Amino acid sequence: MGINLGNVFPNFKCSTTEGEMDFYNYIEGSWAILFSHPADYTPVCTTELGHAASNYHEFEKRGVKLMGLSVDPVDSHNGWIKDIQAICTMPNAGKFPFPLAAGSRKLVSDLGMLDPDEVDGSGMPLTARCVFIIGPDKRLKLSLLYPATTGRNFKEIYRVIDSLQLTASKKVATPANWESGEKCMVVPSLSDEQAKQLFPKGFETTPVPSQKSYIRYTPDPSV
Ligand code: BEZ
Repeated sequence: MGINLGNVFPNFKCSTTEGEMDFYNYIEGSWAILFSHPADYTPVCTTELGHAASNYHEFEKRGVKLMGLSVDPVDSHNGWIKDIQAICTMPNAGKFPFPLAAGSRKLVSDLGMLDPDEVDGSGMPLTARCVFIIGPDKRLKLSLLYPATTGRNFKEIYRVIDSLQLTASKKVATPANWESGEKCMVVPSLSDEQAKQLFPKGFETTPVPSQKSYIRYTPDPSV
């Protein structure tokens, strides 16, 4: 099935390392990330979950709730978490800071998370490395889909959260490799007159051979 940008993200109930959870109750009113990993006790997944746990403050300061997910059972997640805690610095006196869900095959298939090329010992497909970023309105704002052999770049995840949160409230878009605080671009739907009203710090138009005035930079309106 899979979910398209702008769709309401479906609710689900699931066993997790923090007990039985209802996804909507967990994320209520917040930005949220549901991200999957292929399997517990695998090396790349350990670096990813370790990074997310050690750097949980990066999600907290952006008001983002995190939930990990794979098709492994909760007992397996709990055993694996001990390894992650042993090799990574954990916040909150060592407590693992977010729940890991034990997704059913139907759930992960409905969410479009399965990687047909990555199978378990019995030939069943494992989950790929998906990242779903969901807005406070429960709609899908961004998704990333990586194969099992490529670990994710969490700096990019923090960067896209910053862009999503900024562009949700300001009529700007963020250019290639943008980082919070850097110059943004006025969205094409705004006329120059509207942009003058909306951006008191002004904007600069880059001259181009077409003479079209579509490349307009303005300071990050959040700083
Ligand atoms: C890993 O997390 O290291 C991994 C998992 C499945 C396939 C390949 C690598």
